Amino acid sequence: MSKLYLVTGGAGFIGSHIATALVKRGDRVRVLDNFLTGHRHNLAHLEGQIEFIEGDIRDAETMGRVMEGVHIVFHEAAIPSVPRSVAEPRLSHEANVDGTFNVLLAAKEAGVKRLVFAASSSAYGETEVLPKRVEMYPTPLSPYAAQKLFGEFYCQVFSQVYGLETVSLRYFNVFGPRQDPSSPYSGVISKFVTALLANEPPVIFGDGEQSRDFTYIDNVVSANLLAAETSNANGTVVNVGVNDRITLNQLLAELQTILGTNLTPIYKELRAGDVRHSQADITYTEKMIGYKPVVGLREGLQRTVEWYKENQ
Ligand SMILES: NC(=O)c1ccc[n+]([C@@H]2O[C@H](COP(=O)([O-])OP(=O)(O)OC[C@H]3O[C@@H](n4cnc5c(N)ncnc54)[C@H](O)[C@@H]3O)[C@@H](O)[C@H]2O)c1
Repeated sequence: MSKLYLVTGGAGFIGSHIATALVKRGDRVRVLDNFLTGHRHNLAHLEGQIEFIEGDIRDAETMGRVMEGVHIVFHEAAIPSVPRSVAEPRLSHEANVDGTFNVLLAAKEAGVKRLVFAASSSAYGETEVLPKRVEMYPTPLSPYAAQKLFGEFYCQVFSQVYGLETVSLRYFNVFGPRQDPSSPYSGVISKFVTALLANEPPVIFGDGEQSRDFTYIDNVVSANLLAAETSNANGTVVNVGVNDRITLNQLLAELQTILGTNLTPIYKELRAGDVRHSQADITYTEKMIGYKPVVGLREGLQRTVEWYKENQ
């Protein structure tokens, strides 16, 4: 029988794309999710092709059951928001730190070969040097950033102490189809596109001159598949971005050009915990797992806009 892959948080944005790519490859896939921020409809196209378990990574017994027979884990389940971690630090800690510990322990006990962890570029904080390299000293600015960094450390410790292979991927602002725009904590591209499609003024927190390395989802899926297979990557942390960056004002202008709109944004007060600039150095990622971006920013924006037009 072919190897079994587990995607935690697989009803979410990134997890559902990883599950889809695995199914397309012909792999056996199990998905775990508690639908806190994920949705059943994200997996509707995979009905009958995956095993779905509704459950919570904070529950050790569930994790023991879910991990049976699993070869590789993609650990995406988390409460993935800086502002939400500021507003609800305990809830966020329980999912992102305690939950990750449960996943690692259950993986180790079940004899899982490798776990790929969804880490975050927020770990870098406000270091002035750009692009960010993994050897830079992390300076987390929010509970979320600290929690994700803690997850990386735990992954490395499980590699060293227990022999569970792990790779941590520091994602840089991922976007694409199925990203949920409906919460106040949603990613900015999903918010901008859905506002413009509804002919409503988009909201920008701060002056809009903060910049990000926006990374199309296909790049993140590709990095995950590579990280799961590349033998020498065990115990490492690598960036997943495109090594490009634009400001929120430029991003909005790009989207308005694609959509043919001309709406004036509403500027609101900057949110606590947000960093000013972010850009990934990806030379080490290429060296360790052979990763190269497969879709650039503009192509990714086009595809994303098309998807929201059809699925709004
Ligand atoms: N989207 C980004 O730009 C980005 C950037 C850096 C890191 N990440 C990380 O990538 C991962 C996926 O993020 P996403 O953007 O797809 O977010 P998402 O909210 O769409 O997905 C997270 C999923 O985890 C599930 N979940 C939450 N708590 C759970 C729990 N206790 N038990 C089981 N399932 C639980 C949610 O229901 C959801 O389906 C997260 O770990 C996030 O921290 C995302």
